[in-house]
Amino acid sequence: MSLEVSETIADLRAHVAAARSRGLSIALVPTMGALHEGHGRLMERARLEAGLVIVTVFVNPIQFNEAADYSKYPRSLDADLLFCAARGVDLVFAPAIEEMYPRRQHTFVEVGPVADPMEGRFRPGHFRGVATVVAKLFNIVQPDRAYFGEKDAQQLAVIRRMAEDLNFPVTIVEVPTVRESSGLAMSSRNRLLTSQQRGAAGALHEALLAAAHLVSLGESSAAAVKQRGEAVLGRYPEIRPEYFEIVDPADMQPVETIAGPVRIACAAWVGSTRLIDNVLATPAGRQ
Ligand code: PAJ
Repeated sequence: MSLEVSETIADLRAHVAAARSRGLSIALVPTMGALHEGHGRLMERARLEAGLVIVTVFVNPIQFNEAADYSKYPRSLDADLLFCAARGVDLVFAPAIEEMYPRRQHTFVEVGPVADPMEGRFRPGHFRGVATVVAKLFNIVQPDRAYFGEKDAQQLAVIRRMAEDLNFPVTIVEVPTVRESSGLAMSSRNRLLTSQQRGAAGALHEALLAAAHLVSLGESSAAAVKQRGEAVLGRYPEIRPEYFEIVDPADMQPVETIAGPVRIACAAWVGSTRLIDNVLATPAGRQ
């Protein structure tokens, strides 16, 4: 089947209804475009697990807390369509802003404490915007399964919680982070880095691995683990760290004592580009 492109909700719904009437299950991969191998992995997984694979490409204005970040976000729809076709995607939903927000949005999803630390603290309103657009996409597409990356672990936790709390009949699937050979997590924002900045950006993963190693050796003090990671970031003058946190993997709340698996997450600026990354760390013998 060749790639179809829908720009309207009505057209998309007609495709979904036709697929449903043929008994196909529906997979949704929400993205903001500027697609890379990280997105590609989500699509491949969806292709294996569903009859109709839908990718959405929509740079969602209500999740950007800075207008400049929104306007400079990379956009490359033509290349994105080729990318999707090569991965066996059936349908791309690429609506204009007016299609998703025909008038001022008055109704939002209020997200709970899982959205408070880390990204929520440094990007106020971000997860409210993410949860609202994902809820709209779930209602528009009504997928059986929806695919999200571990790269945005807090986003995943917010969406899982929203889907449970609001009874969306969808299975949320987590896909592991895809990295460059340097360890740098793939991200649409990496396109904004100079080659020198790209070299330095590998520091985020290096810091996370150093911290995770300490956890695997049995260090139970989150403060000590944090200090280790921050020391690695501190070696790179190009990097301006924003946070480095050790949190509970389910509810994303910071922990003081490490007694089981933890998620170690950080955000840092490289020049005027903000990058995030995280890893799961497990103390020895606590699998
Ligand atoms: P975007 O940043 O385009 O990411 C789309 C999906 O791809 C997310 O689930 C993200 O976690 C996943 N992803 C990005 N980089 C990845 C990598 N290196 N490895 C694995 N998965 C990766 O996240 C968003 O868009 C938006 O907030 C969205 C959910 C679409 C709502 O607007």
